[in-house]
Amino acid sequence: MPNSDFDQQIDRSGTYSLKYDARKRLFGREDAIPLWVADMDFAAPEAVTKALTTRAQHPLYGYSEYPQALYEATQAWFLHRHQWQIESEHILICPGVVPSLHASIMALTEKHDQVIAQPPVYFPFFSAVTETQRELVLNPLRLVDDYYQINFEQLAKQAAAGAKMLLLCSPHNPAGRVWSESELHTLLDIARQYQLIIISDEIHADLVFTGQKHIPLAKLAEDVPVITAVSASKTFNIAGLGMSMLIVPNAEHKKAIEAVFNSWHVSAANPFSIEATIAAYREGEQWLDDLMVYLQQTYQWVRQYFAEHLPAIRVLPLQSTYLLWLDCHALQLDDKQLRTFFVQQAGVAMNPGIMFGDAGSGFMRMNIASPRAIIEQACQQIVQAWKNMG
Ligand SMILES: Cc1ncc(COP(=O)(O)O)c(C=O)c1O
Repeated sequence: MPNSDFDQQIDRSGTYSLKYDARKRLFGREDAIPLWVADMDFAAPEAVTKALTTRAQHPLYGYSEYPQALYEATQAWFLHRHQWQIESEHILICPGVVPSLHASIMALTEKHDQVIAQPPVYFPFFSAVTETQRELVLNPLRLVDDYYQINFEQLAKQAAAGAKMLLLCSPHNPAGRVWSESELHTLLDIARQYQLIIISDEIHADLVFTGQKHIPLAKLAEDVPVITAVSASKTFNIAGLGMSMLIVPNAEHKKAIEAVFNSWHVSAANPFSIEATIAAYREGEQWLDDLMVYLQQTYQWVRQYFAEHLPAIRVLPLQSTYLLWLDCHALQLDDKQLRTFFVQQAGVAMNPGIMFGDAGSGFMRMNIASPRAIIEQACQQIVQAWKNMG
């Protein structure tokens, strides 16, 4: 029996929630059911709230430093959940994964160097490359029998042609692919052969469904310089607090990335994110296990519901994350019409797949991390709106 009540509907108004309060601005409708940006409508683990409350009651919120307890809680979590032994001197604590991607690109490549991303993928991967004046090289994933696969032949050619870095999303957002050990080995072989640096964004590592196993790329990497981004933020729904870690085994790389962060003067520790991360990693495990059961049931419900009521929306199998990928090609709407249909007719605010690159055209990304009743309501509105169109 889960200890947490994921069915509980918590009013987020008045909390400056991006997911809720930006609806009017971004979707033109403040009453659309918000199933877009990747945070959850669930209360964080009780231990996190308790740790934050206790800290807030101490009325001094000045500059802080990262305590040993934060490193230890992080190391213990990854050892226990992922059988990955992280050395504390490899950990670089950062204010978020996206800034870490920017900092790593700036530190380890030169302007105009080629950096590879594999769309459809979390769109800041593109801007992290272009905004740092590097050249974005795309190696689109291939959809084979409902599962995305990496085009290794093309990746090897791009690396052979001089690309310096690959931005890997593992597990992959959107669609939640959990890369297998053999796929990760193939990636590492290519990286080894062509001196490709891999930044592995593993922010979704903990959100993996039963029967799947996330393997940290760095565990297999040996001599390949893999840099891993991790965070408690998605796992425990504390993304607003802004903390992540880079795991950088190569000392020169770590020094270079740290120098970029220092040049931005953003290295000051936030006392609340420290408390939340320690509490989550130390005491959040049962909450996470319960969450994954709930999310898996919601995913199965959505898949079944569309199969029965609107099979033109094909729900791709989800191995991890709460970011469902809906194949809407059979609706025969272009990307603009798709967005209009879902927002205006159905009243559901989701991310259009095209945001994740051309490979996402014809798809929508649905965030299912809300109480089941909300997800059911959204799916029913979609089906009803489609009927009304007919
Ligand atoms: C793959 C991936 N990386 C990074 C982030 C955001 O990380 P942060 O908020 O720490 O910058 C997200 C959020 O959705 C994500 O899906």
